[in-house]
Amino acid sequence: MAITTKKTPVIKLRDLEKRFGIGDAEIIALDKINLTIKKGEFVSIMGPSGCGKTTLLNIIGLLDSSFVGEYELDGKSVDSISEYRQARIRSQQIGFVFQNFNLIPRLSVIENVAIPLVYKGIPHTKRLIIASDILRNFHLNEREYYMPYQLSGGQVQRVAIARALVNEPSIILADEPTGNLDSRASHIIMEELSDLHKHGNTIIMVTHNPRLTTYSSRVITMLDGQIDTDTKPTVEPVEQKSKGKPKTKRRKKQKRKKR
Ligand SMILES: Nc1ncnc2c1ncn2[C@@H]1O[C@H](COP(=O)(O)OP(=O)(O)OP(=O)(O)O)[C@@H](O)[C@H]1O
Ligand SMILES: [Mg+2]
Repeated sequence: MAITTKKTPVIKLRDLEKRFGIGDAEIIALDKINLTIKKGEFVSIMGPSGCGKTTLLNIIGLLDSSFVGEYELDGKSVDSISEYRQARIRSQQIGFVFQNFNLIPRLSVIENVAIPLVYKGIPHTKRLIIASDILRNFHLNEREYYMPYQLSGGQVQRVAIARALVNEPSIILADEPTGNLDSRASHIIMEELSDLHKHGNTIIMVTHNPRLTTYSSRVITMLDGQIDTDTKPTVEPVEQKSKGKPKTKRRKKQKRKKR
């Protein structure tokens, strides 16, 4: 992938259109989207159910290539990137938190989180150490060897986020990462995303919670497959004022230094 600077557009969409179905049943899920996201932006996407948020994230995350229009990733049209190369980009540079989490039911929590590291060629024991480390950030170290069905909804959600971040991807796509969580658990996740943002990662997060958009540098609202508004928030994050703020990243770094 090309070397990018802070101001380089990492994602550029031109007249992006996505339709599902045919004839009378046809749905225009994305209707001529024009959007440029620069490296290091933290973008929140909001909008009513069915307006196209997940569809947009799937295309940005290279999970869906059947669209009309132009998509340039790091200055390169995705049309010209081979499937093999796209798969590598997906596994090494993009972290995806799915709306339905997609944990593998027959694997334990720690094995689920360690999956993305397989593609990096990291040996098994090292994978488990790294996965264990990130699970601690999400307060899940006591659940490492649980199976997904033994977790609460909120715990499943945190495991899915840990898995998306374990590979240290430069682009994080999160589809309602705090959907089922109470404010303390949401705060842990938002702090983690905030930290990644501060380290120069590009984050695109779908949320229905307007309070969470204050963590981001840009808020986009969608309506009927189109971008409705595109603004920069000015309010301080409400959640940051709460007590007992976990120092997730710092703890991880200290621990890594020791190894
Ligand atoms: N595989 C599919 N086949 C047919 N229609 C689809 C498919 N996936 C999405 N759609 C339709 O495309 C539109 C956009 O769906 P999308 O999942 O992107 O919405 P969303 O904004 O993520 O909604 P939510 O907030 O409920 O998650 C909807 O009308 C949906 O029914
Ligand atoms: Mg959705």
